[in-house]
Amino acid sequence: MALALEMKGISKYFASTDVRANDQVDFAVEAGEVHALVGENGAGKTTLMSILYGLVRPDAGEIKVDGQPVQIHRPDDAIRHGIGMVHQHFKLVPSFTVAQSIMLGMEPNRGGFLTPNEENRIVSELAERHGLPVDPKARIRDLPVGMQQRVEILKVLERKAKILVLDEPTAVLTPQEVAELMRVVRNLSQAGFTVIFITHKLLEVVRVADRVTVMRGGRNVGSKAVAETTVPELARMMVGREVLLKVNKAPRQPGPVVFAADDVSVTDVRGFPAVTRVSFEVRAGEIVGIAGVSGNGQTELVEAVTGMRALDGGRLALNAKDATSLSVRQRRNAGLAHIPEDRIHVGLNLETNLDENLIVSRYKLGQFNRAGFLNRRSMRDFAIDVIKRFSIAAAVPGGGISRLSGGNMQKVVIGRELAGEPTFIVANQPTRGLDVGSIEFVHRSLVDARDRGAGILLVSVELEEILALSDRVLVMYRGQIQGEVDPATATEEQIGLLMAGAQPETTAPTA
Ligand SMILES: Nc1ncnc2c1ncn2[C@@H]1O[C@H](COP(=O)(O)OP(=O)(O)O)[C@@H](O)[C@H]1O
Ligand SMILES: [Mg+2]
Repeated sequence: MALALEMKGISKYFASTDVRANDQVDFAVEAGEVHALVGENGAGKTTLMSILYGLVRPDAGEIKVDGQPVQIHRPDDAIRHGIGMVHQHFKLVPSFTVAQSIMLGMEPNRGGFLTPNEENRIVSELAERHGLPVDPKARIRDLPVGMQQRVEILKVLERKAKILVLDEPTAVLTPQEVAELMRVVRNLSQAGFTVIFITHKLLEVVRVADRVTVMRGGRNVGSKAVAETTVPELARMMVGREVLLKVNKAPRQPGPVVFAADDVSVTDVRGFPAVTRVSFEVRAGEIVGIAGVSGNGQTELVEAVTGMRALDGGRLALNAKDATSLSVRQRRNAGLAHIPEDRIHVGLNLETNLDENLIVSRYKLGQFNRAGFLNRRSMRDFAIDVIKRFSIAAAVPGGGISRLSGGNMQKVVIGRELAGEPTFIVANQPTRGLDVGSIEFVHRSLVDARDRGAGILLVSVELEEILALSDRVLVMYRGQIQGEVDPATATEEQIGLLMAGAQPETTAPTA
């Protein structure tokens, strides 16, 4: 079959985050197929498609559409070559009608401005032709998300796209909306459109796609016909076959329970269940890993544990005391430390200097606070100590932090969080986007904290990291703990199956 799209040797390095987001990626899509592009968060999927759509300029590589080399510098160029993209976060104007949203920017091409009636008629015809009914007069703000997404798809179709890129289209949808979208995508493919469907949910791949390409760490790690692969195989490709990270650690010495979640339920920002009746304990001196494909409730669980999101049901205890309705600050004072996923926005204040960033979570504790004033001198001594202890290269006490590299910013957060000798540490994707040296440092710091007697909850979509660090591993799937495995004996295959939603009894060998 003919190739609708061929990308060759695409590379993109982002200096600001020091990330090689795409590393010599080859990507080929056949005409008329649904091609799933999968990979964990940060694998480089959006970057590759943003290059295709002219939003990001690659450092190297070439693109062919229908066998012809093309130059794409702007979205206009992409549209001219029949490429349309529906972004992860829609860009619709809430006060516009459906017809206005779809026709926005189209009028000049259609010879003068259209009356609202003409716009409505064109949009109704378009919708009917593609089997995607919409009310052209409805306001965007009154539509459910699934319908807004349909408007975005129609907008792309009105611009004559033959290749549609959908970036994580199901992330924001209810299960019913997902089923409807799957039907729409299959229909578009039947009608001859080529669809590139980005997701990290493997069951969706099997439901909707003809072929699949897996990305990991900015590279294409393989393309397969869906009929010739399996969910566990894709899971293994996504998380990586080889365990690159080896962490030396002594056997754990579990002490008393430092944290307990009992029957905890949480809803996400849209009010849908994200965590459902989850119970587990973390003891002093152990690292409990939460594995799972991202988007299975891990974020909401961390928010609930750290006090950033209220529980819908259940209880939390810190050091045997009820912590269910304590504030973030009260939890910190009760011994909780948090290494957040988004260390730049949640973890640091880039407008203030290093000293203030280091103490920000501790200034209520008295050490730096005399009669309501911060003691600059002891803050400075503390900063010097942390810079030394955590080898924060390029950091100057009192200096700005916005120029530090990602790895060093992470060290600032970790230095601050661990310096207070917390009893319970929540580490969420603690090494995301870091170079190998910084990854080793972060891992060493967590193991040292555990050996000093802290209990650690480690949440990571990097299975290698979970296996290298954890003493026990819980696998999350659709908001629940799907099973617990022993990282010393479990295979990646077993964990991969649990991550994909298989029942524990089918993965464990029966005695
Ligand atoms: N505009 C940008 N500037 C700096 N870094 C970026 C930018 N866009 C993406 N990145 C980084 O590139 C990597 C790949 O990101 P992305 O392509 O969004 O991955 P995915 O869509 O697979 O989750 C990530 O580490 C991300 O932080
Ligand atoms: Mg993305």
